[in-house]
Amino acid sequence: MKQVVVEALQTASPMPIEPHMVERPLHSQMGDYALPCFSMAKTLRKSPKLIAEEIAASVSHPAIQKAEAVNGYVNLFLERHSAAESVLHPILAEGAAYGTSTLGADGVATIDMSSPNIAKPFSMGHLRSTVIGNSIALLLEKSGYCPVKINYIGDWGTQFGKLLTAYRKWGSQEEVERAPITALLQLYIRFHEEAETDDSLNDEGRAAFKALEDGEPDALALWKWFKEESLKEFQRIYDLLGVTFDSYNGEAYYNDKMEPVVEALDHKGLLTESDGALVVDLGEEMPPCLIKKSDGATLYATRDLAAATDRKTTYDFVQSIYVVGNEQSLHFQQLTQVLKQMGYDWAQDITHIPFGMILKDGKKMSTRKGKIVLLEEVLKEAIELAKRNIEAKNPSLKNKEEVARAVGVGAILFSDLKQHRKHDIEFDLEKMLQTEGETGPYLQYSCARAHSVLRKAEGRGDQGITEVNDFEWDIITQLQLFPEAVRRATVELDPSIIAKYAIDLAQAFNSFYGNVHILSDTANQSFRLSLVQCVSIVLEESLRLLGMQAPREM
Ligand code: ARG
Repeated sequence: MKQVVVEALQTASPMPIEPHMVERPLHSQMGDYALPCFSMAKTLRKSPKLIAEEIAASVSHPAIQKAEAVNGYVNLFLERHSAAESVLHPILAEGAAYGTSTLGADGVATIDMSSPNIAKPFSMGHLRSTVIGNSIALLLEKSGYCPVKINYIGDWGTQFGKLLTAYRKWGSQEEVERAPITALLQLYIRFHEEAETDDSLNDEGRAAFKALEDGEPDALALWKWFKEESLKEFQRIYDLLGVTFDSYNGEAYYNDKMEPVVEALDHKGLLTESDGALVVDLGEEMPPCLIKKSDGATLYATRDLAAATDRKTTYDFVQSIYVVGNEQSLHFQQLTQVLKQMGYDWAQDITHIPFGMILKDGKKMSTRKGKIVLLEEVLKEAIELAKRNIEAKNPSLKNKEEVARAVGVGAILFSDLKQHRKHDIEFDLEKMLQTEGETGPYLQYSCARAHSVLRKAEGRGDQGITEVNDFEWDIITQLQLFPEAVRRATVELDPSIIAKYAIDLAQAFNSFYGNVHILSDTANQSFRLSLVQCVSIVLEESLRLLGMQAPREM
């Protein structure tokens, strides 16, 4: 629409009109678009008021219904009929593909996401990473990139030596099989407790990790089993969330790929010794990056350096994205800086997408001793609550289980994605499951409502439009904003733009639904049904981009 407005203004303006000069007025009484004439005043040596009057008087374009000059602004009202048609037509023709673009030109974007740690609970932070990363992948795909979702499992490091030791001393196979994460975590906690008074345990732990690094079969077999059991438990969460990955190459995968990186660092003269450890000095701005401990052990950063270079070689990415909490910002700054010092210009294509914490009653939902919040239980509770709501409101609904799952999970996803990710978010299940307000279920209900109208109207509809009322017009203006919302969300790697867009569209639709008699009033019926159809298409696609499902009936 904006393009048409720019064209129309061009025919009447003494100066070239750029799209950015045209604004959307706050109130619809002031038109659909407005051109402020203040910046032109200087060049034209005329008052803005006069310029606006002259432009308004000579605008003549089939897409413009009227132009008014008000205090130095040209306010433009669009010809609603033709605008409506030009908005609805592509949506009906393209369906879910509406808003798709070739912005990414098929470039690969790797997304490091989720990445939980073996033998540790899947934390709220891992949930955020999974949910935000998944939506970013969907957005990138819609905008013509090839996303590669990488689950960089935390399956390596000295803690595994401790875990092996603890299991050999106190572990039981049945317990690990019954509840892997809980059992392994207990062992880990016990190790730390006992090591406080018995330092020899720490030595045993180190020796066990050394054995693991050297590929000693017993140690390796045990570690593999811990990993499989943990992954099984994580998989249940991914199944509930509906998230899949293209790669599960985690930290252990890089065990034998770090040496070349350390050699390259050495070769380029970047390694310095500090208290027996090898570090890369990063100047005044940042603490040095630790590459090897004094006992020769590699670190988290060493593995990430190996992984980053490996991803460049394997995928030749145009963007390498890491969706990891705020608390690791320094780590990613160091990682990028080291790669830059190594002379890799692709280091500039690395983006860390940090996010805040999930809070419960203002406090971090933690996985520390004694109060482990198991994510799977949280998800199941949400589904259970959603089911209770269905039983109360619509007990005869078909596929109750399926709908409850979509709504329970959708509620959690949406409450996470609707705010800009850098904010901490308060976790309140009851609130996020409400069907009013800015919630996932509100959007899903709006979608189902649109489908219900379409089902009831099957085969109905007159021809043509007599007029486009304000409720209808609001929907039209929202619908045409979708491609731009997708573009912005992709460029800014920010799903909350789509979440907010979906709320605006659903609100416009619901006031239309509440004020216009779509089914009983035969006037304009086919136009109105097309409108409803377009809402259902665009709303459903918005939800899909957030990783949410849209049940047809609720
Ligand atoms: N496993 C890590 C953690 O739970 C997150 C890994 C993030 N990705 C990375 N490439 N460092 O804290």
